[in-house]
Amino acid sequence: MSDTRELFEVRDWDAAGRIGRLDVPRAGVTVETPALLPVVNPHIQTIPPRELAEEFSAEILITNSYVLHGSEDLREDVLERGLHAFLDFPGAIMTDSGSFQLAEYGEIDVTNEEILEFQRRIGSDVATPVDLPTPPGVSRERAEGELGTTQRRLEDAAAFDADEMLVSAPVQGSTYPDLRERAGRHAAGVGLDVFPVGAVVPLMNEYRFGEVVDVVAAAKRGLGPAAPVHLFGAGHPMMFALAVAMGCDLFDSAAYAIYARDGRYLTVRGTEHLADLDYFPCACPVCVEHTPEEIRESDERERLLSEHNLHVTFREIRTIKGAIRDGELLELVEARARGHPAMLDGYRALLEHADQLERTDPASKGTFFYLSGESARRPEVRRHHDRLARLSPPETVLLTEDGWNEGDGGDGEIGDGAYDAHDERWSIVPPFGPVPPELAETYPLSAEVPERTDDRAYEAAATSVARLVEANPGTEWTLAHRAWPDSALARVPGRVEVVRLGSSEGVEDSDAE
Ligand code: GUN
Ligand code: ZN
Repeated sequence: MSDTRELFEVRDWDAAGRIGRLDVPRAGVTVETPALLPVVNPHIQTIPPRELAEEFSAEILITNSYVLHGSEDLREDVLERGLHAFLDFPGAIMTDSGSFQLAEYGEIDVTNEEILEFQRRIGSDVATPVDLPTPPGVSRERAEGELGTTQRRLEDAAAFDADEMLVSAPVQGSTYPDLRERAGRHAAGVGLDVFPVGAVVPLMNEYRFGEVVDVVAAAKRGLGPAAPVHLFGAGHPMMFALAVAMGCDLFDSAAYAIYARDGRYLTVRGTEHLADLDYFPCACPVCVEHTPEEIRESDERERLLSEHNLHVTFREIRTIKGAIRDGELLELVEARARGHPAMLDGYRALLEHADQLERTDPASKGTFFYLSGESARRPEVRRHHDRLARLSPPETVLLTEDGWNEGDGGDGEIGDGAYDAHDERWSIVPPFGPVPPELAETYPLSAEVPERTDDRAYEAAATSVARLVEANPGTEWTLAHRAWPDSALARVPGRVEVVRLGSSEGVEDSDAE
């Protein structure tokens, strides 16, 4: 489609994640995102597409037009009946082009134009041109050269008369962030409709989630926040929350079926082997009605496992949507990051892009939960630090963990004199840092922080103090803290008078004033 109608509308944001609606005009449907597209193999399909729609509420699926085109048996049938009747699926159907086969076998026997025309003729709702999936870690020359070819294919696809059919614009560039960003900018400008980030399958197969995050972040910088983004070949539910928080909207899963074939059982924390399970940690119909032993011995093993795999996969998509609606997406990502060390790498990589996430993060959402040292690097903390830079403090300010009310911490903890001696008293809330009274009731300062906070929360608060002090050389500062670790105190500039609350030392210090 090449008119300028807005096909994608975002309803709710959380970090760079969103709930959106994607119009698919040729199918006459609107798909709610984040969405999962089950991969349907035209030759072998253990769960029929009609069941995907009716039992799993799949609104959209993806199949491979190159496989259909190359099959003597299927080609004429699908041309004659159309893809929707052929598969018996009432929702939207996206098709891939054979690029994956090209990457795998080095050549394919159709041109970009031929396979686009074939996709149009069989009634695909979202077609894909023949991009070149450049693998990770290749030379820059190769990545750049292949990106040039992909870009010409996208331009040709944009010139192709697709009518109501949407056409995807895969973003390549291997593991070079600048190439991914350039590819994203080009793709968004070329007049196509849906934007898959390509060639990440090798990274995901090796659990290199930190690199997946960097690749997606770079592509997103080029694509901008308005583009609907598909993460090509990402089907493991453990990484959906992470990918959604980075701004991915569509996922396709072949994993549910492929894993089932060799007895692998998906969970949101990783993959289990059916052979090793004594109990099912899941409440889907399959797991409620069967024991692992029954399924191991069943003739229906593959079918039952793929059903479970698909249930957990769709369930995670719903969990994510709920988390976005409640403003808890990063809490969910943080929980998922605790399931596997490779996911923790992914989450830490995501936090390195906190600035990028902050741009679309709502100013106010559910209560901020401080769950680990990683929470200290969340975009909300970053935003508070930036907000402090815009304040104009008076001549003397007391920053105190005692809160705003005089005498909060009990009589004489730092001496009433110290309170009276300052123009204003600001609270200090790890990991955010100083909080002037006028911001006290605003998100995220109503944060829930554990009593036994870790050092990183204090270090983040101290960094925040340092930035505030440096930005306001005309103000005299006193910091009254409760047993901050040396690693945090080392960050506080020397000209701040530091008082420790709840110790006789602290009382003496302030009495001496
Ligand atoms: N499936 C998984 N990765 C890719 C990719 O990079 N391009 C296409 N067209 N399909 C894919
Ligand atoms: Zn289950």
